[in-house]
Amino acid sequence: MSIKSTDNQYVAHTYKRFDISIVKGEGALCWDDSGKEYIDMTSGIGVNSFGYSDPVWADAVAEQAKLLQHTSNLYYTAPCAELAEILCTRTGMSKVFFGNSGAEANECAVKVARKYAAEHKGEEYYNIITFNKSFHGRTLTTLAATGQDGFHHLFTPLTEGFLYSDAEDIEGLEKLVRDNKVAGVLLETVQGEGGVNLMSTEFLQAVEKLCRDNDILFMIDEVQTGNGRTGSLYSYRQLGLHPDVVSTAKGLAGGLPMGACLMNEKCADVLSYGDHGSTFGGNPVCAAAAISVLNRMDDAFLAEVKKKGDYIREKLTEAGYAVSGLGLMVGITTEKPVSEVLSKCIENGVLCLSAKEKLRLLPPLNIAWDQLEKAVAVIIEALN
Ligand SMILES: Cc1ncc(COP(=O)(O)O)c(C=O)c1O
Repeated sequence: MSIKSTDNQYVAHTYKRFDISIVKGEGALCWDDSGKEYIDMTSGIGVNSFGYSDPVWADAVAEQAKLLQHTSNLYYTAPCAELAEILCTRTGMSKVFFGNSGAEANECAVKVARKYAAEHKGEEYYNIITFNKSFHGRTLTTLAATGQDGFHHLFTPLTEGFLYSDAEDIEGLEKLVRDNKVAGVLLETVQGEGGVNLMSTEFLQAVEKLCRDNDILFMIDEVQTGNGRTGSLYSYRQLGLHPDVVSTAKGLAGGLPMGACLMNEKCADVLSYGDHGSTFGGNPVCAAAAISVLNRMDDAFLAEVKKKGDYIREKLTEAGYAVSGLGLMVGITTEKPVSEVLSKCIENGVLCLSAKEKLRLLPPLNIAWDQLEKAVAVIIEALN
């Protein structure tokens, strides 16, 4: 049986896969089972920060796997402690909880906000405000946080206590805060799945101020925007924001499952013994991978990410297409149906993504310039 037919028979049909079976990869390139080569402008939906099977990353993973792969969170391990120190030092946050995915990082954020509010104002202050067109995960709580009805259909009742506001509507948000007992606001600075929509700095700063004035937690979901993707380690840093909680995952461990919920000094000690946990959270192999990823993301590397994002924007704008996003998180408004553009790109050896009706690019952050130039040329041809 082929990979495709075995998969179709035995794997739950929750994914609409392209008709491609990827068998190996190297950097931004990968090959299917017929030997066809692709330039990958998806990086596993923003996960493979350094592309496929990067040798430095693979060595870090293999060395740790040979030394100690897992212990449980009953014991201390060096990679977990070291990664927490790197994350807190580089972000100015105070503590981190490790999970395995973006959804779990957001679950933790919701628990922190609710417990903080319960202790400071009362248990009835449990509401979390998120935004229409947001995406925060697939668990029943993070689905509730996701401001898109389509994802909720047939899975109700979801976790109670989520309210939705519109991006750029500060009066609407103020009214929600005034009329409800609110614990926190959770947002993506660039809504990824919702169409690569960048919120304005002015709006984001107004949200932060509203949270401060009302002593509610200002929480940023950096699952997709984080770990270098937008040209700074976390997008909030280039937008002049000071969140209380930051959730992240995807590119953090460069291709292994890891999520993190960072808390500033205001809420660092909200969670105490027994409040939260995860069997695999902070797993030594995933933590070693993340250390290797973060240690390579210095200022020069991040500046290059920005430069590559600018290059894509410049070329597509020149070709007459509207581009959204930040850094190497790119959304392109297409004239043809996006599925047609994706198919044409695949035919010509380039893998891309969609987000709503837009074409979306999330290439590996270290994609070589010649590969980037070639991929952009193929994309423009497919768009025209
Ligand atoms: C902004 C954002 N938050 C949360 C998630 C959920 O992450 P995961 O699929 O790792 O649970 C995603 C996934 O696309 C995301 O883009």
